[in-house]
Amino acid sequence: MKEEKADNPQGQKKPPDTLPAISFQPEEDEEGQEAGQRMGFTAFCRCLWHLLLPYKTRFSLVFCSLLLSMVIMAAMPLSIKIITDYGLKSPPNFRLLMIILAGILSAGAIASLTFLIWDYFYSRIGASLINDLRFKMYRHLQQLSMSYYGRVPAGEISVRFLSDLSLVENFLILNFPFILNSGLFLIFSMVILFAIEWKIAIFAAISLVVSFQCGCWIEPRASVATKKTKDVQAEIASALHENIQAQSVIKVFRLHRLLTERFGHMGKRFCETSSRANFLLYMTELVPSHSVMLIGLLTLCTSAVFVYHGMLSIGDLVVFQLVLNEVATNVSELTWSIPSYVQASVGMQRITELLEERPEVLDQPDAGHLPRPTHEIALNRVKFGYTPERLNLNDVDLKIPVNQSVLFVGPSGCGKSTVLNMLMRFYDPASGSVTFDGQDIRTVTQDSLRSHISTVLQESFLFNTSIRENIRLGKEAASDAEVEEAARKAEIHDIIMGMPNAYDTLVGERGSSLSGGQRQRIAIARAIISGPAVLLLDEATSSLDQATADSINTSLSKLSKGRTVISVTHRLEMGPMVDRIFVFKGGQLLDQGSHAELLSRGGLYSELWAKQTGFHIEEDGSATVKASRLREIPILATLDDSAREAIAKLFVSEQMPKGSSVVKFGDPGDKFYIIVRGRATVSKPGRDGVEHQVGVIESGDYFGEIALIKKSPRTATVRTDTDCVLLSLSSTHFLRLLAENPQIKAVIDDVAQKRATS
Ligand SMILES: Nc1ncnc2c1ncn2[C@@H]1O[C@H](COP(=O)(O)OP(=O)(O)OP(=O)(O)O)[C@@H](O)[C@H]1O
Ligand SMILES: [Mg+2]
Repeated sequence: MKEEKADNPQGQKKPPDTLPAISFQPEEDEEGQEAGQRMGFTAFCRCLWHLLLPYKTRFSLVFCSLLLSMVIMAAMPLSIKIITDYGLKSPPNFRLLMIILAGILSAGAIASLTFLIWDYFYSRIGASLINDLRFKMYRHLQQLSMSYYGRVPAGEISVRFLSDLSLVENFLILNFPFILNSGLFLIFSMVILFAIEWKIAIFAAISLVVSFQCGCWIEPRASVATKKTKDVQAEIASALHENIQAQSVIKVFRLHRLLTERFGHMGKRFCETSSRANFLLYMTELVPSHSVMLIGLLTLCTSAVFVYHGMLSIGDLVVFQLVLNEVATNVSELTWSIPSYVQASVGMQRITELLEERPEVLDQPDAGHLPRPTHEIALNRVKFGYTPERLNLNDVDLKIPVNQSVLFVGPSGCGKSTVLNMLMRFYDPASGSVTFDGQDIRTVTQDSLRSHISTVLQESFLFNTSIRENIRLGKEAASDAEVEEAARKAEIHDIIMGMPNAYDTLVGERGSSLSGGQRQRIAIARAIISGPAVLLLDEATSSLDQATADSINTSLSKLSKGRTVISVTHRLEMGPMVDRIFVFKGGQLLDQGSHAELLSRGGLYSELWAKQTGFHIEEDGSATVKASRLREIPILATLDDSAREAIAKLFVSEQMPKGSSVVKFGDPGDKFYIIVRGRATVSKPGRDGVEHQVGVIESGDYFGEIALIKKSPRTATVRTDTDCVLLSLSSTHFLRLLAENPQIKAVIDDVAQKRATS
């Protein structure tokens, strides 16, 4: 697999220049291994600098106004000295006093005004910075490949947008201005202290540096602990997100107790990491602020000794203490900001991690435009694995002439959807290539490739907007007439017109206000509005009832004219209608040919065909089984035709919606079932009492044979994965038939005997 990757011309991808420039190198620190988990101060500042760059001129101007106001504010304590030493000295000079007072008042007014200017402009810059960052993250997410979305849970991504971004926002909007104010104030105040008495000022400065160092020693530890807390918080958010989406499965499988227990464990982990992080955050604030208080007291004592020895005047002592008090207040303000800085740096780190994710599927720098295919679409010896450990496609080689309709069939998990992923270039092959008219799709832009392709999936995603906008998503510039034309082709126009708001009807979240068939038809209209050359249908009608599926399939076959249609399906009734069928098994292309060719060869396709045929489904969805079909069921295989005819009549049709329990583990076994349409999962309780899936059964499969001959409890639970049509044979009816027909009973007893001894 590694060697194959080396062959891949896409193997060494360079990040495109268009991606965001923010980056950081984790800084080394004494926490060794954990150092890689935190963003250092310089890296954090570098990120802020990158964010500020577009606003540097505006920011420099408002910073000057802040600077001016800080100089004035820091010099304010000197006003006492100026008033006492000059304004009030004898002989009294009222004019000079007035001039001094006017000067002081004007300076105060200028300080307030410049502060107001700073606040006004910084509030705008701060909001823009956060908006830019959020936009950058969103744009980056759009560029990431499908592999990223497969790897990273949605909840984890949301946490980066919500919690992490708001940590950075809090810091930038609330704390950053305070840090600038207090930092500048501190610098100017220290200058004044040095001017008054440099010896005590040196002592105060050294003590302040030491107290800051204590804070710096704690900060990385607090930072690492906070990062761990945020990671656990993201896990909790992912679990919650998943839980909300999976409520129906949780209820059906009775998983609430297990999941609540797991959530509780996560919560405990959160408590442990969070309490350590919170304590360290308190310390980052407490240590420096209390050190400053002690420094203030020590400086006061030292100044008193200086005054006692006549080395300092009482006036200077008062001014010195006033300035020092201001210093202490500002140091406290700075230290209050440390916890917020720590949290913001963790938030910024997690945001940067997202921005540093590189798309695995990239346009080459010289990628060209792919013209509409006119000849052939091909996979050439494609090998691919979602993970390096396993190949999900192994040497797949297939050619699809354009404008043909083809079918991909094969058991669940054999790689059919993966081939579609390759054609849409959601992933690149590890080796081999995908070509449109002989052109490797890695050499063209993804946009041009996808402009020729449209898809309809099993569960089509509709956006929570109007029907018109949902259809228009397939072609941005489509006029209302084009939207309606597409809806007509998808045979949903009349239904839409019958709705109270017609095309302006809101479809609800994921199209919840529409029926499954209506959703699929709108998805088809969206897919065809742009007139794509290639239409990919991945189980487009599988989750629908038979009548709706038949009618949509008819619409789809009308739409297949003039374009290549590749359908993935478990239902083979389309088989005779398509040009070619590709049969997959275990990631390999097992066979290919027309329906007739494949049936005549007698391989997997004909087995699957035999399994799915022999049933008749009425318009109301009820099913019957042909007597000949019962020959495929071992317990009934040796009976003669008349016996099978009699038994076929005993089958009762049952329709079960998705998520229903057909049989439950431990319940008395009283019926035999055949799945006519649909898919179901088989699960058994494990030692922990929780059900584990052990298999998937689908159209043509049967279960519960033993119930016909022996009263015994069910050994597994069977639940429908899609809406299902089943045929059931009750043991009471079956046994009554045996009682009335001793010759049938003899054959069945013989089979049961052989089974018991085998
Ligand atoms: N995103 C993914 N990450 C890892 N493995 C994946 C991913 N998607 C699919 N697989 C695996 O790849 C294999 C092929 O999956 P694929 O979806 O192509 O099967 P399929 O033939 O379409 O099955 P089905 O008929 O059930 O839809 C499976 O074993 C599946 O578990
Ligand atoms: Mg699939």
